[in-house]
Amino acid sequence: MEKPINNKYPSVKTVTDEERIGMVKEIFSTITGKYDFLNHFLSLRRDVAWRRFTIKKMRFFKTNRFLDAACGTGDLSIGAALKYPKISVVGIDFVLEMIKAGKNKVEKKGLSEKIALMHGDALALPSCDSTFDVTGMAFGIRNIPDRRQALREMLRVTVPGGQVMILEMTFMRNRLFRILYYVYLNYLLPLFAKVFSTNPAAYYYLADSIMNFPTPEEFAKIMEETGMTEVEKYPLTFGITWLHIGKKPQQAT
Ligand SMILES: C[S@@+](CC[C@H](N)C(=O)[O-])C[C@H]1O[C@@H](n2cnc3c(N)ncnc32)[C@H](O)[C@@H]1O
Repeated sequence: MEKPINNKYPSVKTVTDEERIGMVKEIFSTITGKYDFLNHFLSLRRDVAWRRFTIKKMRFFKTNRFLDAACGTGDLSIGAALKYPKISVVGIDFVLEMIKAGKNKVEKKGLSEKIALMHGDALALPSCDSTFDVTGMAFGIRNIPDRRQALREMLRVTVPGGQVMILEMTFMRNRLFRILYYVYLNYLLPLFAKVFSTNPAAYYYLADSIMNFPTPEEFAKIMEETGMTEVEKYPLTFGITWLHIGKKPQQAT
């Protein structure tokens, strides 16, 4: 089946890391206004359930701090702060427009005392070593070419014994679902995006980045190779999305 042509964003397979980072920054600064709506609409609100599942798995035991890396408009931060009233949350993202939208939501929910959303790069987190009981990233790692560096940074700022959580969409491997999902990603999704988004080409990038993401097994191995132990993986909604949880070993600094 031939893929629809996207003249704006070349495949992630054909661009350099720098070009890809530029694309990611442009995409998220141009789709901010409709980001939350399209997330919920295109996933039939499954994204809400996936974040909720992730939040339920969090364990706060020492510093009561949570880092939301690549926080976007702050849904994981807000969900965690509501579920665990004792924690404080730092969210970082390198697209100011996303942060601004997130700050508005945080204010509206009356959570400004608990959640600080700030500009920053997941590849060089602006936090000291061993600061957070839990560090999480929802739908961010797919957009980061140097995944290992992002994982190393998350591990560095996590306390020994703490959790690193990665929630990410991936391409299904079951043959029937694979075909249906391919059609959805490459034909239906861009169609909906054309109707609702100011930058529909961004949704070709979404499909492309999902199809080029490592398998859950490969990704678990990458987490182990960056120093995490006891890596667990949970398939969500037939494996459209997976939650990976790694532990920072006790002896690590
Ligand atoms: C698909 S959105 C996910 C946002 C949010 N976590 C959520 O659950 O909706 C991906 C986000 O990752 C951010 N991002 C990508 N690479 C980043 C990096 N190196 N540092 C910080 N943020 C990054 C983008 O700006 C964007 O806001």
